[in-house]
Amino acid sequence: MREDDMLVQASLDARTHAYAPYSKFRVGAAVLTTDGTIFTGCNVENVTFGMTTCAEQTAVLKAVSEGHRGFVRIAVCTEKSPPATPCGLCRQMLAEFCDDIGIILVNPTGDREYTRLSDIFPHAFRPRDLIGEAAD
Ligand code: THU
Repeated sequence: MREDDMLVQASLDARTHAYAPYSKFRVGAAVLTTDGTIFTGCNVENVTFGMTTCAEQTAVLKAVSEGHRGFVRIAVCTEKSPPATPCGLCRQMLAEFCDDIGIILVNPTGDREYTRLSDIFPHAFRPRDLIGEAAD
C-alpha cells in the first residue's frame, strides 16, 4: 500500500476509537514521522468539555512522548463532506514541531483533500519567536 494510503487508512481506523459521547463528532488522525513511523490518535472528550483532546493532538502527543518530533504528513479523518480541517489548537500543536507539514483531509466516504499547514495557518507564533532556534 502507498504511504499516503496507509496513513489515510490509519486515520480511518483511529476514528473508530473516538470517544465523543457529547459532540458525536468522531475524529481520527495519523501522523507520519521522518523515520517512517505512524502514530494515531482520536478525539477524547470529557464531561467538563474543556478537557477534551483533539485527535491530532492525541497523535502528536503520542509521538512526542515516544521520542519522535519530526513529522512529514498527517491524515485527519472526520465525517464531514468535504472533510473538516484541523481546529486552531491543532494547527498550533503542529506548528510547535513542524515548519510545514502536508495535511490529508479525509472522510469515510473516500473524499481526500490535500493541504499544508503553511496554507491553513500562516504567520504562526513559533518556538523560534520565543526562544530562538531549537527548543530542547
Ligand atoms: N476535534 C478534533 O478532534 N480535531 C479537530 O481539529 C476539531 C475538533 C474534536 C474535538 C471534539 O471532540 C469534537 O471534535 C467536536 O469539536
